[in-house]
Amino acid sequence: MTNRIRPRPGALIAPSILSADFARLEREIRLVEEAGAGLLHVDVMDGHFVPNITIGPPVVASLRKVTRLPLDCHLMIEDPDRYVDEFLAAGADMISVHQEAAVHLHRTLARIRSAGALAGVVLNPATALGSLDAILEEADYVLLMSVNPGFGGQSFIPAVLGKIAALKRTISERALPVRIEVDGGVGSGNIVSVFEAGADWFVAGSAIYGKADAAGAAKELVRLIGR
Ligand code: DX5
Ligand code: ZN
Repeated sequence: MTNRIRPRPGALIAPSILSADFARLEREIRLVEEAGAGLLHVDVMDGHFVPNITIGPPVVASLRKVTRLPLDCHLMIEDPDRYVDEFLAAGADMISVHQEAAVHLHRTLARIRSAGALAGVVLNPATALGSLDAILEEADYVLLMSVNPGFGGQSFIPAVLGKIAALKRTISERALPVRIEVDGGVGSGNIVSVFEAGADWFVAGSAIYGKADAAGAAKELVRLIGR
């Protein structure tokens, strides 16, 4: 079995390479590693589940060769069961699938875990937390979307703050080791609120790679969550 890389404990910034310069990915990754990032968020889009096409397993395999950050693969694809094995073989350390796209979620999460990777369930902003009731024990993390998936650079949907807090309460009440990741529109203006609501991992694309000083922006986000 491939040796998977585990996230370190505590609050972590997960830069999304979706907003990086794809012609210079290694440099873009080095920059966030040096700034203290904890995960590398890889947005996989298929042009069906979301109206955009991005990257697939060959790029994940190339990323694996140039970084020791955990590769956090967010699959925004229809029928993720068809592709999970390819992402595992490419070296993904974490794979999350959308509740709205995965028809056999228990099976999918079990498959990811059996390969030694962390398994995540993603909820779109309009998908209720109740949809996690029967699956929370089977997940290592829940990724709450704070934009409708498909593109970087969208505005954070404020109602998601209450959803984060409610999920945090449920996880505590059930004494589960499930982590909460938040994705979409997170930046220096709202990351403290997202942290205080109960999130553990913070995806940031345009708030890092959209800035002239991407290294400085990443360091500032790391500082704001106290790492
Ligand atoms: C959106 C993606 C996000 C995106 C975040 O569909 O899942 O990970 O890259 O980008 P920002 O941080 O710019 O909202
Ligand atoms: Zn994402």
